[in-house]
Amino acid sequence: MYLNFTERLLRDAGIVPGMNVLDIGCGSGEVSFIVSRLVGNSGQVVGVDTNEKAIAMAQSRALKQNCANVSFIQTNLTEISTELGSFDAVVGRRILMYLKNPVAVMNNILEAVKTNGLLIFQESDLTIGTQSSVPMPLHDKVFNWIAKTVASEGADINFGLKLGAKMQEAGILVKHIRAEPNIQGQGDHNSLYFTMRNILPRITSKGIASQQEIEIETLERRLLEERVNNHIYIGDVAFGAWGHKPSA
Ligand SMILES: C[S@@+](CC[C@H](N)C(=O)[O-])C[C@H]1O[C@@H](n2cnc3c(N)ncnc32)[C@H](O)[C@@H]1O
Repeated sequence: MYLNFTERLLRDAGIVPGMNVLDIGCGSGEVSFIVSRLVGNSGQVVGVDTNEKAIAMAQSRALKQNCANVSFIQTNLTEISTELGSFDAVVGRRILMYLKNPVAVMNNILEAVKTNGLLIFQESDLTIGTQSSVPMPLHDKVFNWIAKTVASEGADINFGLKLGAKMQEAGILVKHIRAEPNIQGQGDHNSLYFTMRNILPRITSKGIASQQEIEIETLERRLLEERVNNHIYIGDVAFGAWGHKPSA
C-alpha cells in the first residue's frame, strides 16, 4: 500500500489509536482526516485554522465522511487558548512557514501538550531549487508563479530546511528530521496543476500571471506532455520532523 509523506511521518513519529491530537493550521482538514483514521474511535482530533471558509469546508467533509472523532474550530494560532484541552500530540503541515513568529507559536502550543507529548511538523522548502531529467520550461514557469505568489503572501519558502532548528529553539526535544523531494505526478503528490487550480485567484489578483498566460483549461494536458517517458520534475522538498515536550 502506498502511504504519502504525511501519513508515513505521522505513523513513524508515533500517532497511534486512542490519542488526542491537535492539528494546527488544519485548512480544509486533509491532515486531520489522516490523523482521525490513525487514532481511531478511541481517539480525538481537533483541527484549528483562522480561515472561516476552510473550517466550514472541513466541518462539511467530516459530516459527509461520518467522522465522529474530529472537530474543527476557527481560531488564530497567535491567540490560541489552553481551554482547547491537553493533547497527546500536536501536528501541523505547511503552517509554520506562514507565521510571523513560528517559534513563539510553537512555544505557546507546548502549554497545550502533555509532558513527553509529541510535536510533528511538515514544511515545504524551495532552497534546493527545481531539477528535471529533461528541460521542462512550462513546469519551471508554473513553479515560479506558485513560489512568487506564496512568497508575496509573506510565507517563508525556505522554512523546511530550518524546521528542526526552529523546533529546538521553541523548546521541543527534536528526535528526527527527514526530507523527500516531491516528484511531480508520483503517487498522490499534489501536482503543479492542482496547486495552480487552487491558487488561481491569488495568482491573477496579484498580477503574477494572467488568465491568458495560465490557460488553466489546457494546463494539465500541457504539463503532462512535458513529463512523457517517465521524465521527472522536482519542484520543492518536503521536510518532516518530530520531537517531544520535555518534562519541566
Ligand atoms: C498551506 S495551508 C495548509 C493547510 C493544511 N495544514 C494542509 O496541509 O492541508 C496553510 C493554512 O494555515 C492557516 N493559517 C495561516 N496563519 C494562521 C494563523 N495565524 N492561525 C491559524 N491558521 C493559520 C491558513 O488559513 C491555511 O489554511
